[in-house]
Amino acid sequence: NWTTGNVIEEQVAAIREQVGDKRAICGLSGGVDSAVAAALVQKAIGSQLTCVYVDHGLMRKGETEQVEKDFVAATGVQLKVVDAEERFLTALKGVSDPEEKRKIIGREFIRVFEQAQAEIIADEGPAVEFLVQGTLYPDVVESGGGTGTANIKSHHNVGGLPEDLEFKLIEPLRKLFKDEVRMVGQELGLPDEIVQRQPFPGPGLGIRIVGEVTKERLDLLREADAIAREELTAAGLDREIWQCPVVLLADVRSVGVQGDGRTYGHPIVLRPVSSEDAMTADWSRLPYEVLARISTRITNEVGDVNRVVLDVTSKPPGTIEWE
Ligand code: XMP
Repeated sequence: NWTTGNVIEEQVAAIREQVGDKRAICGLSGGVDSAVAAALVQKAIGSQLTCVYVDHGLMRKGETEQVEKDFVAATGVQLKVVDAEERFLTALKGVSDPEEKRKIIGREFIRVFEQAQAEIIADEGPAVEFLVQGTLYPDVVESGGGTGTANIKSHHNVGGLPEDLEFKLIEPLRKLFKDEVRMVGQELGLPDEIVQRQPFPGPGLGIRIVGEVTKERLDLLREADAIAREELTAAGLDREIWQCPVVLLADVRSVGVQGDGRTYGHPIVLRPVSSEDAMTADWSRLPYEVLARISTRITNEVGDVNRVVLDVTSKPPGTIEWE
């Protein structure tokens, strides 16, 4: 009989048996899957697990703190945070092409992660033999399916680490769907902000800036994104929409009038979508009052932004993200 309690008990016993007195590591992305997988393994083997969180500087407002403080407080997990913002920004300098950005972010991520891993392995202590991954049932089916569907974008996530790593995998969520993972996370005492989190791409805000990624642009987009999220949450719309990318058109400027002068600022795009699985999506018909509040606040509060536009494209033909 399926209950979250049973799943947790079963997995905890299996993980203990599998790991024995060895150690495991786990990459945290800030997303639901890696967080729940890590919490489960932590429950099973405690300090034999070390988590690694790579802060690439492309996170949204408050997300790194969520992992560093709230997640650690809720689980007691041992966490190694690598501050790699400068490294990522340097690698991304002058790059505007979406695929190139994705490749650079993926590559740097693996390098930083591997270095952190090597440091953990070099620690005193039992051998590090295991890698924890938040693979879900749909991922298992998808990768085993082999239908030959074209890979439209080179996806990057914490699960996509190189194949040549000599680790045994622990995948405690392999039989679960997303909603079940959320229930397990809740039962494990993880904060709502993590458990109920909407999907967010591995390359983060790096693929939500159309144009070159710079620190100033990231800060600006972080502000706009935080306002949109705040208003959507306040309006009780979090469960209704699948996700709402907020995109900065950094290479576009338009004329505006703000205060007592002419401005020449950037547009922000809102991309709220409804979806079952992200394979297809429809643009969300958000209430006008909510859109109005978001628009007023972003143009008032975020410097250098003088226009907010709404993306009314389904997927297909548009993808959910702009890059
Ligand atoms: P698209 O833009 O392809 O996005 O319609 C479909 C879903 O995938 C998310 N996404 C990613 N997730 N790594 C991820 O973990 C990535 O590189 C990535 N790119 C897109 C996107 O947010 C949407 O939910």
